[in-house]
Amino acid sequence: MTENSLTHGSEASEVLARLHELRTLDAPTHGGRVLAYVYDSGIDDLDRLASEAAEAARPLNGLDPTTFPSIATMERDLVSFVRRALGGDDRRIGGRVVGSVTSGGTESCLLAVKTARDLWREANPELRLTLAREDRRPRLVVTSTAHAAFHKAAQLFDLDIDIVPCEVDGSVRASSIISRLGDDVALVVVSAPAYPSGAIDPVSEVSQAALTLGVSCHVDACFGGLALPWWPDTPAWDLRNPGVTSISADLHKFGYAPKGTSVLLHRGRTRHRKQFFATTAWAGYPVVNPTLLGSRSVSPTAAAWAIAHRLGAAGYQRLTASCARSATAIEQAVREITGLTVWGNPTGPAIALIADTSLPESERVDPHHLADEIAQRGFQIQHQPGVTQANGVRLPHSAHLTITPVTEQLLPEFIAALRDSAVAVRGTPQASATVSLAAMRALGYSEDRAPSPAAAWRILRLVGAAPKLPKGPGGGGALPQKMAPLMALAEYLPAPVARALLTELLARVSER
Ligand SMILES: Cc1ncc(COP(=O)(O)O)c(C=O)c1O
Repeated sequence: MTENSLTHGSEASEVLARLHELRTLDAPTHGGRVLAYVYDSGIDDLDRLASEAAEAARPLNGLDPTTFPSIATMERDLVSFVRRALGGDDRRIGGRVVGSVTSGGTESCLLAVKTARDLWREANPELRLTLAREDRRPRLVVTSTAHAAFHKAAQLFDLDIDIVPCEVDGSVRASSIISRLGDDVALVVVSAPAYPSGAIDPVSEVSQAALTLGVSCHVDACFGGLALPWWPDTPAWDLRNPGVTSISADLHKFGYAPKGTSVLLHRGRTRHRKQFFATTAWAGYPVVNPTLLGSRSVSPTAAAWAIAHRLGAAGYQRLTASCARSATAIEQAVREITGLTVWGNPTGPAIALIADTSLPESERVDPHHLADEIAQRGFQIQHQPGVTQANGVRLPHSAHLTITPVTEQLLPEFIAALRDSAVAVRGTPQASATVSLAAMRALGYSEDRAPSPAAAWRILRLVGAAPKLPKGPGGGGALPQKMAPLMALAEYLPAPVARALLTELLARVSER
């Protein structure tokens, strides 16, 4: 297959052969070797079922469930399944819970914010004007460990983001969040659990305070929302708290569905309906969209629906038990690795590894070197740069592990690889960004001045962080083998510069 086929076409068999060849370059999506991005149940027939269900729904358009009523049935089932799992069935707690199927975590978070913002605007017309006169907007209160989707939401929906600093261990005090609440807050967000740390935020205290003050409160359970209901010893983190006004849980994570499906639930129809966009003010068909997209694929919904029916709550419980056993075993193993430790107190299927700073540098295990090293041994864990918060407290750089049911199949091998990798990198300090930082300053880039795309690309090449780009119609661009130096740039360069470099890196990967 050549560039030519995009002009003249080619045989289906050739196209598919090419796709399968391209796929050999990808990280393995099954088998537990990639501990981020993918959620493998380990049940083969579930994948087959998902594929068949997705194929059955492939020609549909989610734009209109009245023309294709199967969509409405599937969405009803999924919403009620998730509502029950998330403690939302008891109408005595704050009334009826209703919701929508969205395309993923980011869309659920965006819609939770948009809905709360619109309700706030409606309830506070005068305060809105007062804030505007002071060049302020209503606030979106989040923690440092809240997902970046909320930063995106604040940008898109014109809110001021107010980030509550976490403690060094990644936890956040309820009082720190509550002290930020006021009548100019459109929404406060707590996570269950937070992706970077795996910790559950103080949902009960914060949602209770929000209820008292009349502030909307969203629980972001996109990551763990379909594992925590069956996880041992969890606090009440969900709709059992009457002050929780909305909650999100991704079917394409621990729901084991293919990418493209999540559920967003609201307390009360009034709130839910604010999520919708509806108009008759154009020359075409009346547009009524519960979510951000117009035409949308129903395949992920159909796959999620099939999986939820196949597994039932009992199936999710079994799969979650496996994740919980692996999490306990990994935490135990890490405790025995000198120089490495688990960040804070995770509850659920995410664990972050950090260097044990109670030991001298020569005995510490840097998590990013560890991640690079374990990649050589066939496992991918995810680099998370550290972050210096507004109060000066630095949250450490770490390596994230998403623990799925297949983790258990490879547990002895994974733990051995962790131990061996730790031995290999023990004492190697965090990659330095000092030279790049000095070079950036010399070039005049700073908090106030970001490089252009061309300059960003030159810098990436200069510091050896540019992806290798294929010549001609090859596979996608490959990132440098060692990610630790790139992550140090992300952590230490002025934020606008780091953003420009990372944007350029990703844009170039898909550019020809
Ligand atoms: C807690 C949390 N919220 C939101 C998201 C965004 O989800 P998505 O990547 O499906 O858009 C994630 C993704 O990891 C997450 O962990």
